[in-house]
Amino acid sequence: MRVLVTGGAGYIGAHTSRLLEARGDYVLVVDDLVTGSRDRIPGIPVVEGNLANGSALQLETLMHEHRIDAVIHFAGQKQVAESVVNPAWYYEQNVGSVAQVLLAMERAGVTKLVFSSSAAVYGDASGAISEAAQTSPINPYGATKLVGEQLITACAAAWPLRAASLRYFNVGGAGTPELGDTQALNLIPICFEQIAAGLAPIVFGDDYDTSDGTCVRDYVHVSDVADAHLAMLDALPEQPGNTVLNIGTGIGTTVRTMVEAILAVSGSDLAVEVAGRRIGDPAAVVGVVDGIQDLTGWRARYSVSDIVESAWRSRQYFDGLSVN
Ligand code: WQD
Repeated sequence: MRVLVTGGAGYIGAHTSRLLEARGDYVLVVDDLVTGSRDRIPGIPVVEGNLANGSALQLETLMHEHRIDAVIHFAGQKQVAESVVNPAWYYEQNVGSVAQVLLAMERAGVTKLVFSSSAAVYGDASGAISEAAQTSPINPYGATKLVGEQLITACAAAWPLRAASLRYFNVGGAGTPELGDTQALNLIPICFEQIAAGLAPIVFGDDYDTSDGTCVRDYVHVSDVADAHLAMLDALPEQPGNTVLNIGTGIGTTVRTMVEAILAVSGSDLAVEVAGRRIGDPAAVVGVVDGIQDLTGWRARYSVSDIVESAWRSRQYFDGLSVN
């Protein structure tokens, strides 16, 4: 298959691009290289550019020239807090890029798409969440992912687009150290930053109705998430449509358990510090993930320990780079 991967030099994108190339697919990456890096995907062609203004990138021409069969669309912004402060930019970047990709695909006759969506579309829903759950995002980031899905669904009704939208739960870890997440935007890398600064990792709230009072999340290894994209790309239904699927493990882990595992793997003797609740945090968010398993046979292989240990190895790798 010949696949255009937008955001393919980023965290999840690079894992996916490498898997595609390793199995013999042709990969073309389009990435603005703001947070992504060519170093993550050696040997894979990269066209640098921002998708929100697709006309500048001539996406349609690229699809013709590279004889693209399918698109995996990762490119976008993912900082929840930033989206609250800068909502219009988030819509321009996250919804605008989907629109540009779809326009180019329609014109180029490319009909297969896997879209990077998010569990953030479920908003502050708590519990075991299936794809049938109400979608009520509580921040512009989640809203842009939901609108992206809706746009894809509308296109699939207008022309023979065969799409899947994958709603990630909490992604962590690293397939290899150099592919780890270098942005400290989520629990695991934030805790590594704290520990590196000699500061206690902070747990936001321990008065939730959960086993240890701290929030529960569904942590899924980035390598499993990348695998899920290939599985779905190969299993897109023949009929036009947008198949929405949760990507997680179906297993919840408390924040305190995660933080204690992070402290242990880093050999730190710092103690966990508990602060007040963070606004907008649901108590427990765990995916029901039978959908993709029934459709493709995919299921997460890696554990929370694999996630934390591989994230730590990646942190050490990048720390070593910064020292030299
Ligand atoms: C997780 C838990 C915090 C930092 C993510 C993102 C996005 C989406 C999935 C893809 C919460 C707690 C955090 C800290 C803490 N996936 N925490 N101390 O909020 O589940 O959201 O959902 O789009 O990745 O939207 O992820 O890592 O911010 O927080 O106690 O220093 O860890 O309160 O309970 P979240 P997160």
